[in-house]
Formats: sequence, structure tokens, C-alpha cells
Amino acid sequence: MDAMEAILTRRSIRKYTTEPVSTETVNQLLNAAMSAPTAANEAWNFVVIRERTILEAFTKFHPHAQMLKAAAAGILVCGNPAVEALKGRWIMDCSAATENILIAANALGLGACWVGIYPVEERIQGVRALLGIPEQVIPLSCVSIGWPGEKKQPPNRFRQDLVHEDRW
Ligand SMILES: Cc1cc2nc3c(=O)[nH]c(=O)nc-3n(C[C@H](O)[C@H](O)[C@H](O)COP(=O)(O)O)c2cc1C
Repeated sequence: MDAMEAILTRRSIRKYTTEPVSTETVNQLLNAAMSAPTAANEAWNFVVIRERTILEAFTKFHPHAQMLKAAAAGILVCGNPAVEALKGRWIMDCSAATENILIAANALGLGACWVGIYPVEERIQGVRALLGIPEQVIPLSCVSIGWPGEKKQPPNRFRQDLVHEDRW
């Protein structure tokens, strides 16, 4: 699959088979994440979550994280404002890293979904307590990963009326 196809066919996949996802494959996703552009100078950290009880526990403080219960893994994307090169840039960097994981997952034939953590305080505190994340580190997203148990059509969201030429 080429890059354009991986981008244009990416959808949020929330159902998975029980087939495991190898460490090598997860590392490919992490490599894609860390290949994202960075204004904060790599002020990101990642937590690979495979333990079933931990994946299930997300649903106690997150109303839209049910898919993690059946996911082979979750990749938590965190920013560390204490070490970022430019203030506030960790948010954009971690978002770019999250999107790279989603596109790479699609390119590898995996299903994935962005589970939003930041800026909802209850979710941030829930993740911190669950995973023992230091106080200065902020979890932005958790990407659920698994071999797809559902198929979706490409989004086709292109709208010419949202595009402006030279001036608004
Ligand atoms: C910042 C952000 C947070 C999101 N959080 C969640 C979430 O918590 N749970 C969920 O099921 N989907 C979440 N999504 C996925 C969106 O629901 C999904 O991208 C949107 O419905 C469009 O569908 P598509 O990804 O299949 O094109 C999130 C997406 C973004 C960009």
C-alpha cells in the first residue's frame, strides 16, 4: 500500500480479532510515531500496554474507550512539557505522532483508533493513576491496536467548499 492509499483509506477500527500483534509490528508503529515532525524536540514518551486488566481499566474513567477491551495493545502517547524545546508544542508533536501510528497501522493491515485523553482532566488523572505516569507528563492519546474485526469504506471527506484560494 502506498502512502496516499494508507492515508485515504484509514478509518477508526474499533473491533479486532483475537490474533496477537507482535513486538516487531508494534515497534514499526513506534518508529512511525517517532518519525513525525517535532517542534518540541522529541518531548514525547510512549507506553505500550498489553496487559488485559489495564486495557479494560480505561473504561472506568473513559466513556469512549470500550474498544481497548478487545485490542491486542494500546499505545499511549504522552508529552513532557518539562523538556520541550518550545512551549506548548508537545500537543502538536504528540498529535502528529498519533496520526503517524494510525496511518502506519492501516498500511500494515492493522485496525486502530485514536482514544482521546488530553485535555479531559478526568481522563488524564485516570491514566496517570492507572499507569503511574509522573505528574509533569501529560497523556494525549491512546491508540488501540489489533487485527481488524470490521471493514469500513474510505471516508471521502473532501469538500471543495471548505477550500479557499489565496484569500478567505
Ligand atoms: C482528538 C481525537 C480524539 C478521539 N477520541 C476518540 C475516543 O475517545 N474514542 C473513539 O472511539 N474515537 C475517538 N476518536 C476517533 C473519531 O471518533 C473518528 O476519527 C471520527 O469519528 C471519524 O471517523 P474515522 O476515523 O473512521 O474517519 C478521536 C479522534 C480524534 C482526532
